[in-house]
Amino acid sequence: MSYTGENLPIDQILCGDNMELIQQLPDSCIQLVITSPPYFQQRDYGGGMGNEGNVKEYIDKLLCLFRECIRVVSNNGNIVFNVGDKYQDSSLLLVPYRFALAAIDTELVRLVNEITWVKKNPTPRQFKRRLVSSTEPFFHFVKSDDYFYNPKAFLSESRPTQKSKKKTDTKVGQRYFELIDESELSDAEKAVARIELAEVIQEVKRGKTQSFRMKIRGIHAEPFGGQMGGRTLQLKNKGFTIIRIHGNKLKRDLIETSVASDKGNIHPAIYPVDLIEEFLHLLTPPGSVVLDPFMGSGSTAVACKKLGRHYIGYDINTKYCEYARQCLDGTPYRNLHLLDGV
Ligand SMILES: C[S@@+](CC[C@H](N)C(=O)[O-])C[C@H]1O[C@@H](n2cnc3c(N)ncnc32)[C@H](O)[C@@H]1O
Repeated sequence: MSYTGENLPIDQILCGDNMELIQQLPDSCIQLVITSPPYFQQRDYGGGMGNEGNVKEYIDKLLCLFRECIRVVSNNGNIVFNVGDKYQDSSLLLVPYRFALAAIDTELVRLVNEITWVKKNPTPRQFKRRLVSSTEPFFHFVKSDDYFYNPKAFLSESRPTQKSKKKTDTKVGQRYFELIDESELSDAEKAVARIELAEVIQEVKRGKTQSFRMKIRGIHAEPFGGQMGGRTLQLKNKGFTIIRIHGNKLKRDLIETSVASDKGNIHPAIYPVDLIEEFLHLLTPPGSVVLDPFMGSGSTAVACKKLGRHYIGYDINTKYCEYARQCLDGTPYRNLHLLDGV
């Protein structure tokens, strides 16, 4: 079976070997590939890749699929690979970085970012001689400078999760009041510092100022810079300085979210749907076609369905394909055809 741009198997989970299935897709028909391959020698998914004899074999195999992903992604599309690491003889193999280096070495893609997933609830397994791993990299690759990119929509404060975080953040700036009390400032300087601090906190709460930093004499380091700049003088003469930060929230290369633990889940290694939603916001317009060649429990497809993107998913294990379809049945549909071309 070979598809054209017109009859793509959109919004389908196909069961089979991704290397065979992806070859049925025409060039440049996908806007985003986002996926998490089986980690090297981590578990047996009942076939497929992950249990190659050594790490080189694993990377070579992954790279074959990666090359196909490059082929099917449009010139202004994006590719995101989440690869996990492995300890062998008590030493990290750095598998993710070996993969990323090999990917760049193809000279077909550029690596835009390594976006770190910070797990709020890592597996609570204590080791005597090492710390608990609680991060994983997501490598963001592109084929050209013309890639679709919407940073405004990434970790946007208008989404409920971000909003609720902000609402509970009633303690904004309160620590500075304590630092003023503890400082060497005179009583008069402290009084002025408290008034100006209260003013800037109100500005942040009203949204006039994005955020701020305060420096207090004797507590914080002096601002760097060769000359006696305005802030250094303020610190010396007034006892404090307040730096207002305007404009957009800094979009940092990390996403902090919890490992999913959905009731009834049968898949051992799922990534969180909300994490994938952030990548969809950042890297696709509504109506795009998103491919996940290692679909597992269907997290990518669920995120797509929620946000009005089309998906194509592959998994070699029939049990996981069935489970992914069930998860999709329970996901509210956004009306895709209305969103197409928006
Ligand atoms: C790490 S899991 C993906 C989990 C997924 N991101 C989720 O959130 O559920 C990797 C998946 O790749 C599948 N797999 C392994 N080799 C494959 C192959 N050659 N073709 C298709 N799927 C494969 C496994 O069955 C497994 O479900």
